[in-house]
Amino acid sequence: MSSTSSTRPSITAIVAATAQNGIGLNGGLPWRLPGEMKYFARVTTGENPSEAPEQQNTVIMGRKTWESIPSKFRPLKGRRNLVISSKGVDVSNSPNTTSHTSLPSALSSLSSKSSRTFLIGGSQLYTACLTSSPPMVDRVLLTRILSPDYQCDAFLEEFTSHSNSENGKKVWKKSTHEELQDWLGFEVDEENEEKGTKYRYEMWVLDQ
Ligand SMILES: NC(=O)c1ccc[n+]([C@@H]2O[C@H](COP(=O)([O-])OP(=O)(O)OC[C@H]3O[C@@H](n4cnc5c(N)ncnc54)[C@H](OP(=O)(O)O)[C@@H]3O)[C@@H](O)[C@H]2O)c1
Repeated sequence: MSSTSSTRPSITAIVAATAQNGIGLNGGLPWRLPGEMKYFARVTTGENPSEAPEQQNTVIMGRKTWESIPSKFRPLKGRRNLVISSKGVDVSNSPNTTSHTSLPSALSSLSSKSSRTFLIGGSQLYTACLTSSPPMVDRVLLTRILSPDYQCDAFLEEFTSHSNSENGKKVWKKSTHEELQDWLGFEVDEENEEKGTKYRYEMWVLDQ
């Protein structure tokens, strides 16, 4: 990860996490929230996705997250899918999907025409990108699961504690809900409830 340069692409992490930063259980998600899944799909696909794969948004994920997506839903449609694995993954049957043995290799494959790049998990990849100095991610779309307190065995690094405020450079700042909607390009409720699960959509940006 040391080979990133000033030309690095802007990367947005998108993640749903409990108050304890729990994000996964037994290799999958601890919750089933169809409305939140629709939000994820709409945000990562973009409002007017191009037919041309090289102009579509990109989703980058670790090998375990790729494997956790049911085969009928992968690759994630309307998006370029990049899978990171040190050993490589066979994606020959998955259109619009490439496998990369490192993050720098994945990032260098990004087309300048690709609109937005999202890091979609899991725990290992979020940690690598959020704790590097400077972070490889400059925006986090966080769905904060407020209740219940789901049991988890995979966790999100507390990224706000990895800001560089001590050397006067970059600090994670929570945006307003209006700023989130402006960036998304559509309106969404801030506070939500599905089948007894309460959650809130947040956006955090790395302030220069
Ligand atoms: N709540 C959410 O928003 C959310 C989102 C996504 C995932 N999740 C959850 O997160 C959990 C999975 O997370 P995880 O940490 O176990 O797996 P992961 O990050 O999805 O995948 C880990 C694998 O990715 C590859 N990898 C990661 N970093 C790499 C690097 N820097 N260079 C090369 N390869 C790299 C390695 O594959 P190889 O072993 O093949 O080398 C590694 O074993 C699941 O429970 C999933 O449901 C939650």
